[in-house]
Amino acid sequence: MFHHIEFDKAYSGPNPPAKEPERQYYFIGKCRKLLEKEQERLGRPLTFHVTTFGCQMNARDSEKLAGILEQIGYEEASEEEADFVIYNTCTVRENANLKVYGHLGRLKHEKKSRPNMKIALCGCMMQEPEVVKKLKKSYGFVDLIFGTHNIFKLAELLAEVLENKGQFVDVWEGTEEIVEKLPADRKYAFKSGVNIMFGCNNFCSYCIVPYVRGRERSRDPREILREMEELAADGVVEVMLLGQNVNSYGKNLPEPTNFAWLLRKAEEIEGIRRIRFMTSHPKDLSEELIQVMKESKKICRHLHLPLQSGSTRILEKMNRRYTKEQYLELAERIRSEIPGISLTTDIIVGFPGETEEDFEDTMDVVRKVRYDNAYTFIYSRRTGTPAASMDNQVAKEEVQARFFRLIPEVQRIAREQAAGLEGTVQEVLAEEINEHIPGCLTGRMSNNLLVHFPGDPSRIGKLFPVRLEECRGFYYMGKAVSQDDCG
Ligand code: 5AD
Ligand code: SF4
Repeated sequence: MFHHIEFDKAYSGPNPPAKEPERQYYFIGKCRKLLEKEQERLGRPLTFHVTTFGCQMNARDSEKLAGILEQIGYEEASEEEADFVIYNTCTVRENANLKVYGHLGRLKHEKKSRPNMKIALCGCMMQEPEVVKKLKKSYGFVDLIFGTHNIFKLAELLAEVLENKGQFVDVWEGTEEIVEKLPADRKYAFKSGVNIMFGCNNFCSYCIVPYVRGRERSRDPREILREMEELAADGVVEVMLLGQNVNSYGKNLPEPTNFAWLLRKAEEIEGIRRIRFMTSHPKDLSEELIQVMKESKKICRHLHLPLQSGSTRILEKMNRRYTKEQYLELAERIRSEIPGISLTTDIIVGFPGETEEDFEDTMDVVRKVRYDNAYTFIYSRRTGTPAASMDNQVAKEEVQARFFRLIPEVQRIAREQAAGLEGTVQEVLAEEINEHIPGCLTGRMSNNLLVHFPGDPSRIGKLFPVRLEECRGFYYMGKAVSQDDCG
């Protein structure tokens, strides 16, 4: 996709352009020169690895980082072998931070035996001043630290690291800017995430995201649609539109628009066969969106609708701005308007002040909505969020006990939901070779369920009708009923 840009020529003279993305093209050109020199010295190609923690948004950011590094001339390798290792971090729960520190211990060791190795950390965790302070003090072997707002600047930051020694830190508090037209290297040839907005304005009281990802900024719809057209031309058949709260897309654009409109425009793009999106806040989910989903031939039959808690009292403390009854009414409407839709959710157990009765409300919603899948989390206290300083933090044992009551209930229902499709024929996108069953591929249905079926790897990236023969808990074994693409 980036064959037309002459990065070598963009690196012209000592003064980089002030304007983006031209400035980054200049630094990609500059890094190419620096890398060539190093490769000559070592007599071998240089390699990179990006390790991603956290959500789909981070996964997409990592593809952008990889795209820039490949344009610079790095080749991808495993983390154990790579000359340049980047950790794209998450901080949504404390566990995510602990994981990164654990990995860093190993990397320190690794770097001792390979002194040429470079290590970079970026992403949400780096937006926390306490973390950067700790890294500066005790993790001097990390060469580069940057945040969520300036990942587009990787080439410029890398030029600094390649030319100078010592730790380089560049973390921005926020930004208004959205830099377009930079490379990305997709993990899958046939599907891709597409950012439609960045940041979050909701300030749910437990959540650190608005602090580390900044205020909500919608991307210009022309840029989004252009990217989707380019992706389609490049062989992508499925896109996942990404935002912390896609239902408020477009509100703050110079020419305000909305998510339902964007979906209608996306539907018109030839070559794109499936459209998914993530994440929807229940308070902003419009009737128009339900209608667009209902009428659409491309929007997948899956909606992720985070509940967080089933108790109106807790929802209020969480600043979610809907009640248990409003949520139930919305879920019911969606299920009746869009038959066959799969509803999934996020649930937090043990929010400050959660009583047995509140937890029972959550269980009640789980039983009434009958989620097709639910991601369950133990509440994690995030410094700087309003919930962190609330009274009545729930005792650890009590939270654990509730958590282990919730999980089997969620799983029982999800199994029952999945089993309902046995014997039917569903359209499946073949995604990868199944590593465990010889001769089998793994594909995904519109409702996000996986099915394993005998098939040739040449079918990967194509859509097929598959008969679901046997439900095995949360997935199916099936057989393609036709060798032809669904067309
Ligand atoms: N503790 C536990 N879970 C959290 N989430 C966000 N913040 C926290 C926290 N402090 C969960 C929410 C959200 C998902 C991405 O992570 O359920 O929807
Ligand atoms: Fe966090 Fe709430 Fe924003 Fe989701 S909507 S990112 S839970 S603040």
